[in-house]
Amino acid sequence: MTRFTINGKPIEVDVEGDTPLLWVIREEIGLTGTKFGCGIGMCGACTVHVGGRATRSCVTPVSAVEGAVITTIEGLDPAGEHPVQTAWRDLKVPQCGYCQSGQIMQAAALLKDIPDPSDDDIDAVMTGNLCRCMTYVRIRAAVREAATAMKGSPSNG
Ligand code: FES
Ligand code: FES
Repeated sequence: MTRFTINGKPIEVDVEGDTPLLWVIREEIGLTGTKFGCGIGMCGACTVHVGGRATRSCVTPVSAVEGAVITTIEGLDPAGEHPVQTAWRDLKVPQCGYCQSGQIMQAAALLKDIPDPSDDDIDAVMTGNLCRCMTYVRIRAAVREAATAMKGSPSNG
C-alpha cells in the first residue's frame, strides 16, 4: 500500500512500488487530465505537483510519494480559476491541448518560486515542456499575464 494526498483527498493505492505515479493517477485514481507523452521525463506532459514542486509523474515511482501532497490539473483550483488557467483562457494558449495541463502545472510552480519572472526565467523553466503545436509564444505571454494577476493575490499557487 502507498498512501498520499491528492487534490486534498487522502488516498491509498495497492500497486507495485515501481509503478509510475502517472499510471496510478490515470488508471487507479481516474484523473486523466495528466497526460502521457514520452514516458522518459523529457516532454513535461505528465507534470504534477508533489509537495508543491513540478514533478514528472511518468518517471516517479509511486513508492517515492508515500506521505506526499500531490496536486494535479484537476486540483490546481476547484473552479479552474487559478490565475494561470485564467491567463491561458484569455490568451487562447492551447491548440490541440495535449501538452497543456503539463504546461499549466509547470507554469504554476514557476510562479510560486519566481513571482515576477523575466523572459529568461520563463524560458529556462518552461523549456522542458514540449509543445508539438508550437504554442510557446502564447505560453510565455500567458505566464507574464498570470504573474501580473497574482501580484495582488499572494495566496494563489
Ligand atoms: S510523459 Fe512524462 S515527461 Fe513526457
Ligand atoms: S497544444 Fe498541441 S502539443 Fe501543445
